[in-house]
Amino acid sequence: MEKDRLKTFVTILFVVTIISMLILAYIDNQTYYMRFPQPSDKQKSTETLNSITAIKNSKHYMVSAFIDHRVGGIIRVISIINRNSLQPLYCVYCNTEQDCKTVKANVQIHRDHFGFPFAASDVICEDKHLQNAKHVLISTDKDSANLKKDYLPIKNRVISETFKFNFTVCISNLFGDYNNVLQFAQTIEMYKLLGIQRVVIYNTSCGPDLEKLLQHYEREGILEIVSWPIDQFLNPSSGWNFRKNSGDLHYYGQLITLNECIYRHMYQSKYVLLNDIDEIIMPYKHADLPSLMEDLQSAHPNVGVFLIENHIFPKTQFEDSGKYKRPEWNDVPGINIMEHIYREPDRKNVYNPTKMIVDPRKVEQTSVHVPLKSIGGNYRVPFHVCRIVHVRTPLQGRLTKEELAVDKRVWDFEQKLIQNVDQTLKHSGLLRLSS
Ligand SMILES: *[C@@H]1O[C@H](CO)[C@@H](O)[C@H](O)[C@H]1NC(C)=O
Ligand SMILES: *[C@@H]1O[C@H](CO)[C@@H](O)[C@H](O)[C@H]1NC(C)=O
Repeated sequence: MEKDRLKTFVTILFVVTIISMLILAYIDNQTYYMRFPQPSDKQKSTETLNSITAIKNSKHYMVSAFIDHRVGGIIRVISIINRNSLQPLYCVYCNTEQDCKTVKANVQIHRDHFGFPFAASDVICEDKHLQNAKHVLISTDKDSANLKKDYLPIKNRVISETFKFNFTVCISNLFGDYNNVLQFAQTIEMYKLLGIQRVVIYNTSCGPDLEKLLQHYEREGILEIVSWPIDQFLNPSSGWNFRKNSGDLHYYGQLITLNECIYRHMYQSKYVLLNDIDEIIMPYKHADLPSLMEDLQSAHPNVGVFLIENHIFPKTQFEDSGKYKRPEWNDVPGINIMEHIYREPDRKNVYNPTKMIVDPRKVEQTSVHVPLKSIGGNYRVPFHVCRIVHVRTPLQGRLTKEELAVDKRVWDFEQKLIQNVDQTLKHSGLLRLSS
């Protein structure tokens, strides 16, 4: 009798374990998803750019160098390290062109490499007399102090407590022939209404109409375009999972650009928003981002990382009245976010991934959804206070309209938004001047 019960118990336990493993594997596949459309064939451009520099006699690359005042004034060189070819590395730092010194480097590979051979890394240079260093290079050779080329300028040498911008959006990667012009214009104009002063985008390649729009925003001064010709150095993956998307490096080097963006704006911007090109971090209780952050920061004075939940608005579900189906936008490629007001509900057992608003001075290393090393902790902002409006292909594609939630927050900005989008498209040469 006792033996039978034990047998039954063990059988049930076995079955439950197998089912749980299957469910977990399924969730693992579902939670992370493509945030960009698939890029087309690689475009090779002949431009030579110095945002990525090969480290001689190695398989590694260096990107940018910064003084980090928070950890003893070391030099942090944001780098791309090949995990299969580790070797001793050295920092050559120079106060003047003649006055260079070599020290052994400490390589810190970020833990979120997702299995790819190349990983976002910090190469740390530590020495007593770094304060006056102006240039640095990473070398495989202890005795390379007289190399002339390939030095990186060292940025963030001076701490500033006043900032040129209050809110900067970092959009990590643009690649393939992405040409979603209408959604990008709506997103940037929305962000301007919400109080953003700066948008930074790392450009590997893009479609012809988006190119015009980017050039317009660059002329206007709101957009900083960082060239990111990663495809000329490596075979970047268009996915996040090494097992499924082969390649040298996770997602066009997104983890490197996100970290670079934080350091680049450490003393330029009070806050930095880290989100993808098709996502808007949207306050729901406040009129704009300044008033949202004033409240959040005074309630959580030490927090440096505010996590914002992502919510999907399927591009396949249109609102019924058709009032934002404007003929003026008929020939503009891309998604009209104003037509998509249906939001997917939360799923049981699926954790909504987050994106971040950070105080860049409180982040040392970041991943895509959460920081890896930060000061002061994280705060997960409640859904009803702020969430991400993310119009894209559905994740729960089988749901009918009735099973989705109506969420018209974008419409609160309709008048100004439409006006400003029209102006922008006109100035970019993307709006036909008809009727
Ligand atoms: C940033 O916010 C402060 C305080 O609200 C304000 O005085 C300042 O003008 C803002 N700066 C920018 C560039 O908007
Ligand atoms: C983006 O990068 C591509 C490839 O280098 C280049 O052709 C294009 O002009 C860049 N776009 C902008 C707006 O900088």
